[in-house]
Amino acid sequence: MNFKKEYDKLTAAAPEEIRSAEDQDTLEEIKVKYLGRKGLLSLLMRNLGSLEAEERPLWGGRLNALKKNLTEVFEERIRELSEETENSDTTDYTLPPGDISLPGRNPVLSVIEEVSEIFTQMGFGTAYGPEIETDYTNFTALNFTEDHPARDMHDTFYLRDSDALLRTHTSPVQVRIMQNYPPPYKFIAPGKCYRRDTIDASHLPVFHQVEGLMVDKHINFSHLKGILAEFAGRFFNGKVRTRFRPSFFPFTEPSAEMDIACTICEGKGCPSCGGKGWIEILGAGMVDPEVFRHCGVDSTLWQGFAFGMGAERMAMIKYGINDLRLFFQNDLRLLEQF
Ligand code: PHE
Repeated sequence: MNFKKEYDKLTAAAPEEIRSAEDQDTLEEIKVKYLGRKGLLSLLMRNLGSLEAEERPLWGGRLNALKKNLTEVFEERIRELSEETENSDTTDYTLPPGDISLPGRNPVLSVIEEVSEIFTQMGFGTAYGPEIETDYTNFTALNFTEDHPARDMHDTFYLRDSDALLRTHTSPVQVRIMQNYPPPYKFIAPGKCYRRDTIDASHLPVFHQVEGLMVDKHINFSHLKGILAEFAGRFFNGKVRTRFRPSFFPFTEPSAEMDIACTICEGKGCPSCGGKGWIEILGAGMVDPEVFRHCGVDSTLWQGFAFGMGAERMAMIKYGINDLRLFFQNDLRLLEQF
């Protein structure tokens, strides 16, 4: 290379180019081109060796001066540009904010609140129990026989070296309330439950239930049907059809499951309800006298019914969501809809 020619070119072109840069990005590019590690100035520095030995100190000095000068021109231009952007910002930061779009509540929480609201209107109170329960309150007091499959290690999270476990349903809240307070009872108990399930579209190891218990004198199965059908009507807005099917739970006798007519095909049968026309929404039944006995309630004086529903399941049906996992991924595209 012709050292002196390159030096002249650089001194002539660089300051002008820097001063005419219109924005920070262009300026940054120019900086790399001239002052960068592989820039033109470094190139000249590396080529000092091509000069006669006695010329080198003089040109070395010139290159250093040039570097200093160009750096100053740069800083000057950076200042100018940032002043320009500051001045061109006409935003009035004292104005109150406009429409901020905040995501709503998690749909599972909305469902729990809505269910609670409906039962509160029907005179139910609310009770809570611990998520860590004992084998006795979660199973034995609820009339699960020793060899009942739900006690199997595969369904239940047991706490090491104790008979404590993570509750597999909210029914132990029934036990705790009945053991600690005298009848009558009329309450719901929402909360988290745990089961050792492998995660897929319809299973999560943590989920929510809303339990209910109503015990008084002369409570019978028609109270159960009436209250739960009324609940379904309010929850699913209006004239949804319900039906009760016989079922089995260790802690209720007789037991039933309540279905609603499929919200999509209204009972005719479609892919969404598996062609059945009906969708199961909760389990229920008359409290088994054996449960009353464990809780110290005299079943010759008091009768009642209990029910339990899955909050995620209710949310899936109500909002047409087909994958449980969506509730807990905190994806704004879902949450913003609620
Ligand atoms: N605990 C039952 C379950 O987890 C639901 C239920 C509650 C059924 C109360 C009847 C009465 O499946």
